[in-house]
Amino acid sequence: MKDYHSHIDPAKLDAFVGQAVQDISAAYAGVMVSLGDKLGLYTAMAGAGPLSSREVASRSGCAERYVREWLGSQVAGGYVVYHDISDTYELPPEQAFVLADPDSPVFMPTAWNIPASMWADEPKALEAFRTGKGIAWGDHDDRLVCGVAAFYRNAYRPSLVPLWLPSLDGVVAKLEAGAKIADVGCGHGHSTLLMAEAFPRSRFWGFDNHQPSLDEARDHADGAGVRNASFHVARADDYPGEGYDLICFFDALHDMGDPVAAATRAARRLAPGGSVMLVEPFANDRVGQNVSPVARMYYSASATVCCAHAISDGGHMVLGAQAGEARLREVFRKAGFTQFRRAFETPFNLVLEARI
Ligand SMILES: C[S@@+](CC[C@H](N)C(=O)[O-])C[C@H]1O[C@@H](n2cnc3c(N)ncnc32)[C@H](O)[C@@H]1O
Repeated sequence: MKDYHSHIDPAKLDAFVGQAVQDISAAYAGVMVSLGDKLGLYTAMAGAGPLSSREVASRSGCAERYVREWLGSQVAGGYVVYHDISDTYELPPEQAFVLADPDSPVFMPTAWNIPASMWADEPKALEAFRTGKGIAWGDHDDRLVCGVAAFYRNAYRPSLVPLWLPSLDGVVAKLEAGAKIADVGCGHGHSTLLMAEAFPRSRFWGFDNHQPSLDEARDHADGAGVRNASFHVARADDYPGEGYDLICFFDALHDMGDPVAAATRAARRLAPGGSVMLVEPFANDRVGQNVSPVARMYYSASATVCCAHAISDGGHMVLGAQAGEARLREVFRKAGFTQFRRAFETPFNLVLEARI
């Protein structure tokens, strides 16, 4: 190793050590957030005003000494406000919206399942990096699938029906009148069910090659009493049916081992005038433009989950979760689509529309 010590700038070193410590601190805090969620500590505090540690403990049915230490961690991180004079703790309304309301579009605690699963699967990632072999979606720690489904369900709920579908050309009118829709790589089916509930005259088919996810999707459909959606095991390049007015990919195309084959299947299965809605993680086209906390999360999950699955799924084209619009456009051009545009974007997602 070359001697780089003489090149170290002390101010830059201080700043970077500070950043690294902040990151480690956040990782510790994630465990506390997960405990706070699962033990009902946040819900015990939401809207309750200032509470003593004893009150938080008795409202959540937990042991006070543990709760007091947990509260200290929350205060240290700015999640909970501490009132010195009364020795009480308060969860501000903004924090409650993010931490205590599972239906909030910015509910975060379940997202910690994703890094938890990545840590649990570190031995598999080490092996994959060293050998170049893949890791299938279903071979990860169970928390991965649940964490991803919960994270995206909350993102889709306020956006998919009110904002994303209307941003597509003429799609809402078709869905209202009664259309055929395929949701390819549907996972737990949250996207399928949101659309099926909003458009009862339309018929929805969810396809995925991971059976346990489809079992979950069917349970969700039964629980919600949705009758116009069904879920089937199928590969993205080999699902049944034709004449679909809309074919959707939600956070799934970049996971597939052959995205061009999946897009080609869509091209051949669309009804005349039909379209593809492609929802992908937000990304710019170049690595140097993807420098943000969101990009960091996506690249990290991509390294051990998305790329790993695509490699296990044949690895013909491993897009990764930060593919960006230009590379996605190229996939659809190769599949025979002539129109491709960005219809909507959020800090987390790109919504793209493709037509033949
Ligand atoms: C990140 S998950 C997204 C699930 C869901 N669409 C969502 O938004 O929550 C990617 C999904 O794509 C599925 N998938 C990956 N490769 C596939 C393939 N070749 N054919 C069908 N499904 C595939 C996985 O099983 C997984 O359920």
